[in-house]
Amino acid sequence: MSFRDKTAVVAGAGGGMGLNIANDLIDAGASVAMADVKPEPDGIRSEQGRHVYFQGDLTEEAFVRNAVHRTAEEFGGVDYLVNTTGVLWFDRDLSFSTMDLSVWDEVFRINLKSFVLTARCVVPEMKKRGGGAMVHFSTIDALRADTRPQDAYAASKAAVIRLSKSIAIQFAAARIRSNVILPGPVLSPMQARWQGKEAVQAAVATGIPLGRLGTTQDQSNACCFLLSDEASFITGTELVVDGGLTAQ
Ligand SMILES: NC(=O)c1ccc[n+]([C@@H]2O[C@H](COP(=O)([O-])OP(=O)(O)OC[C@H]3O[C@@H](n4cnc5c(N)ncnc54)[C@H](O)[C@@H]3O)[C@@H](O)[C@H]2O)c1
Repeated sequence: MSFRDKTAVVAGAGGGMGLNIANDLIDAGASVAMADVKPEPDGIRSEQGRHVYFQGDLTEEAFVRNAVHRTAEEFGGVDYLVNTTGVLWFDRDLSFSTMDLSVWDEVFRINLKSFVLTARCVVPEMKKRGGGAMVHFSTIDALRADTRPQDAYAASKAAVIRLSKSIAIQFAAARIRSNVILPGPVLSPMQARWQGKEAVQAAVATGIPLGRLGTTQDQSNACCFLLSDEASFITGTELVVDGGLTAQ
């Protein structure tokens, strides 16, 4: 896939999947604006100066607006948006029936409102280019419930699926596509609880039909496909990337 002369905004680009996706887009010829609340990470493969990094809070409209505006100025427009921003607070995000509702609100601000803000800001830029494509990260937890829940995380990620359909339908005439990826368990900073714990990783992998945990590369491969022209007739839908976990 070639993304030569294209520009992408990757939100949550200091994280596992966001950084992997940003690097893959750079390798395929794109210019990439990366945004995250974290400082710029090591390992950005942008020798030709084809990236910019904005450190800030993606729930703040002024920060998002400024980042998108500066991206369009620097690279001449915006063709793609990738929303990977997310928080999964295992210790505080619990059952809806008992959890602190200020935590509920904060999770929704980060996991849902930040996606609304980035999408709102890039749509006018994509229209100027005659179209564009977005990929938003949800989770397989949006599809099913369990007795040890992270309810704010799961509900906010379910809302991402519906938001994406709205974007897809409201802007199809403008040739803007919008799709969602639902990852299964992926070894990344979000799953720091599994880092270095081989036995735990092996135990999680036994529940996955393909027999291993997901990687950030698995997710990036799916994301780059959905952004690419090879997916030009795909919009308003979801791609589960979970090694078969939800199929069994
Ligand atoms: N890792 C998994 O097992 C898994 C599974 C299913 C879905 N997902 C989803 O995939 C996406 C990417 O996950 P990941 O594993 O790369 O996680 P990650 O924690 O490595 O990356 C998420 C990034 O979001 C950033 N972020 C959080 N709040 C922010 C804010 N207010 N402003 C700006 N940046 C902010 C974090 O700093 C972090 O770099 C997330 O949306 C996650 O919910 C992950």
